[in-house]
Formats: sequence, structure tokens, C-alpha cells
Amino acid sequence: MKLTYDHREVQNRLLVTMPSHEVEEAMETIEAIQSLKHKLGAVVLGHNYMTPDVYWGVSDFVGDSLGLSRLAAETDAKIILFNGVHFMAETAKVLNPNKMVLIADPEAGCSLAESINSDDIRALKAQYPGVPVVTYVNCTADAKSETDICCTSSNAVKVVNSLDSDTVIFLPDAYLAKNVAKMTNKKIIAWEKGKCMVHELYRPEDVAAARNQFADLMVVAHPECDTTVTELADFAGSTSQMEGAIERSGKSNILLITECSMGDNLRSQFPGKNFISTCHTCPHMKRITLDKILHSLQTLTFEVLVDVEIARKARSSVERMLKIG
Ligand code: 13P
Ligand code: SF4
Repeated sequence: MKLTYDHREVQNRLLVTMPSHEVEEAMETIEAIQSLKHKLGAVVLGHNYMTPDVYWGVSDFVGDSLGLSRLAAETDAKIILFNGVHFMAETAKVLNPNKMVLIADPEAGCSLAESINSDDIRALKAQYPGVPVVTYVNCTADAKSETDICCTSSNAVKVVNSLDSDTVIFLPDAYLAKNVAKMTNKKIIAWEKGKCMVHELYRPEDVAAARNQFADLMVVAHPECDTTVTELADFAGSTSQMEGAIERSGKSNILLITECSMGDNLRSQFPGKNFISTCHTCPHMKRITLDKILHSLQTLTFEVLVDVEIARKARSSVERMLKIG
């Protein structure tokens, strides 16, 4: 989704979830970031898990991993500031080797990305010769360089089904692999070590308790949750797909089974709906703050760099995914 900055509109959105004195302070930093961003000709991408001040205040585009990868592939801007985690900024760099890609905090990692590397993938390929490898974009460029094709949570089933093989190695998210296995006839070989540290915390009891407490309830879950949770949900999909399902739903109570800030962002977008949060926060996403973003644009740090050969190989697996859609 494209955002056009309007001071008053952003202020009103922030007031939905933040105390007024904090909004006042945030607006000063937002104004400074907006003017610096225009001076530099930078484009700012924001993942759906950014806090509302970052999400509504400074982003040119917001969305899920697939949407932001597409925008990164298409942008004309010379500088891309990626407000998300490191693997997302790295994907933007892989798609734009000649542009400057910045991240406000290079320590913004991901438990999934940390669970696997290219040596692990080479070992799996040796163990299962000829079996195609699909990797979720939540991995390093190094891991992407050893894969046949990437996927995100919004196109995983489509990507798996596109492969001309009865068996597919699906990495690194064990729960996404389980969710995909339920929607395809192909045999899925998963990587049991890969879990999202946020979504693995959700339990089927969370859904059952909310169903008991709230009438007119829609349960929306991310497929990085175990299937014991997603099979109780009314809808499971990527963060942007979740947003679309909520928009289409007539239900007034929404149980959002994903990272906390997504609910905060949707509260101002759908003021008529009641968001029930069994909130779990991603500490990596939360490293990206307004002050660090301002510092990043002032100093042109931290630049994301990827080895040329790794980037070339990783690019082909990401581009192959983008062609599929
Ligand atoms: P999507 O926005 O693609 O659903 O990804 C969720 C996520 O956990 C990213 O870190
Ligand atoms: Fe990684 Fe989970 Fe955080 Fe997304 S929410 S960045 S998958 S740890």
C-alpha cells in the first residue's frame, strides 16, 4: 500500500494507540525524517510489523514480504531504507545491486533466518539428490544462493505446486512447511529447527478462550503458527492477506494471531472493529525506531552489502518467485 504523508492524518492515527505527549514528540522526528528523505530522494519501505509511528509516519510503502520485495524490485529511487528486519533489506539489495540499501539497525535479525545456512542446504541437497529446494524469504542471501526458488507466506503453496517434482524440500520454517503440506499433494521435507520465535508462542487454547469470550469473532492467524493453531482459525495467510481478509469480513471482533504492532496499525485503519490481542512482540522488528531511522538517513548507515556472487545466485531464486507471483 502506498502512503502519502499528511501531518494531521498521521497524528490522528497515532493518537489511537499512543499517549498524546509521545505523539507530539514522535511528530517532530517524523517531520525531520520526511524532509531528509525527500532531500536524499530515498524511498522508505515499512513492513506490517513496524510500530505505528514508523509504519504510518515515515513509510512510502507498507506491506508484507512479497509486496515489499516487488516494490524493491521496481523502485527508481537511488536509496532504499528498509524498515523491517535484515533479511528483508538484504533481499532488496539482492534485487538492486547498484542501489544503496540502508537498515536503521543491522542487528534486526530473525529466528528463522538464523536457523539455517548454505552449508545446511548443501548437506540436504546431498541427502536428497535431485529434490528441488524452496526457501521461505525469511533466510539470509547466503541461504537463498543455494536454493532453487524462494517463497513467502502469501505464495508458498503456489510456488511448491509450480515445481515438477512429487517431493519438495521446504526450508526453514517447520510450521509453514506443515501448513503448506496440508494444502498440496506433494511430499514436503521440512527443517525442524526453523521456528518463528513470535508465532511459535501461540497455542490452540488462545483461540478456544477467545471463541468462548467473544461473539461475532473472526480468528486470523499467520501460517508461521503451528497447524494446531491455524486449523482453528477462520483465515490464515501473510500479513497483507490477513489485512485483506479483515477488510472483507463483516465480523466486529478480530483475534489477530500475529506480531503485536500489526494490530496497532490496523486499529486506526478499521476503527469500527475491536482487535483482541494475545500479543507477542518480535524483538528484531522492534529494533527499528524513529530515532534510529533519522540517524540512518543523516549518516547513510547501515548500508546492507551482499557478496556479488552470492547476490547473483540469490537473485535468480527471488526472481523466479516474483515471476510466479
Ligand atoms: P509476511 O509479511 O510476508 O506475512 O511475513 C511475516 C513475517 O514474519 C516477516 O518477518
Ligand atoms: Fe522472524 Fe518471526 Fe520476527 Fe518475522 S516475526 S522477523 S519471522 S522472528
